[in-house]
Amino acid sequence: MTAHIIVLAGDGVGPEVTREAVRVLQTIGTKFQHTFTFEDHLIGGCAIDATGSALPEATIQAASKADAVLLGAVGGPKWDDPKAKVRPEDGLLAIRKALKLYANLRPVKVYPELAYASPLKPEILAGTDFIVVRELTGGLYFGQPKERRTRTDGGITAVDTLEYHDYEVERILNLAFELAGGKARRGIVASVDKANVLETSRLWREHATAMSSKYPAVTLQHVLVDTAAMRLVMSPSQFDVLVTENTFGDILTDEAAVLAGSMGLLPSASIGEVQNSKGFALGLYEPIHGSAPDIAGKGIANPVGTILSAAMLLRHSLGLEVEASAIEKAVETALQQGARTTDLTKTNPLSTAQMTDAILKHLS
Ligand code: IPM
Ligand code: MG
Repeated sequence: MTAHIIVLAGDGVGPEVTREAVRVLQTIGTKFQHTFTFEDHLIGGCAIDATGSALPEATIQAASKADAVLLGAVGGPKWDDPKAKVRPEDGLLAIRKALKLYANLRPVKVYPELAYASPLKPEILAGTDFIVVRELTGGLYFGQPKERRTRTDGGITAVDTLEYHDYEVERILNLAFELAGGKARRGIVASVDKANVLETSRLWREHATAMSSKYPAVTLQHVLVDTAAMRLVMSPSQFDVLVTENTFGDILTDEAAVLAGSMGLLPSASIGEVQNSKGFALGLYEPIHGSAPDIAGKGIANPVGTILSAAMLLRHSLGLEVEASAIEKAVETALQQGARTTDLTKTNPLSTAQMTDAILKHLS
């Protein structure tokens, strides 16, 4: 296969970790006889510096025509001024919207040999392996109006709008049920909402209940978001597929990330309705850890989250399941054999490039 991949390295540790994921993809290309071509574009703070926009038109054009997009991270203290007219994060929100990436998949798997690095007890973590399906282009992030109003008493009122259309709810729930019914999962959907308070959640719950009758092999549970937050740290292994709206998903996925021992380990995929030249979903793949400005430029960031994101890219945008599993297996073996970056050990940690070498050893 030949496939064209846009690389948006972005800010902070972004360039350091995407470089390593590209090396892994190149190795996969050689081993399995695929030709992957890579093209760099700007997003985030570096794009603001170069063009004034967090998502330049050239990036949107290139990404829309690509088979997949690999992203590092956006943001950093340089662009943190709350009064700034344009922020690096705007680039991320805009590309999600431009590429219609309505579903964000965040798998969380606890490797037993890394349980020590998690703040939770190993016996609570045992068997934890779930995926959060977060709605990504609706809800409070995008609902209109979103504005500040000056009241007659001179004070300020700020408004965000929580809005969901039935078709938005339907397509994300559908994806969650499909995933849960697949052979990689255990057939349980936890639909997370706040139906005791929010109208959008009541619409969500109605659709989830109706959809479950079409998936007799999948068990549906409704879980209130506050309860879900609690269960994630009390008994995370009970979850298989969690599906939820944008803001709840943002919060729960950071909480869930802590379980694995380091944010540096976790990948994500954002996919939507647009098909690429292979007939699969055009997707954007990125580690969940962010730009980590405190360690940027030192060559010590953990590349695993980005490398596992590259595996998700192969699976979801190119249909290359064997190749994706090969990467995941190589990461697992490297971790089992003790490969650790600085987020996971204080004794002789590997550099970003050395960690990748430790993984590549099991691929070539
Ligand atoms: C994430 C991030 C983004 C979000 C920010 C950077 C806009 O926190 O991908 O979870 O809130 O979606
Ligand atoms: Mg977040």
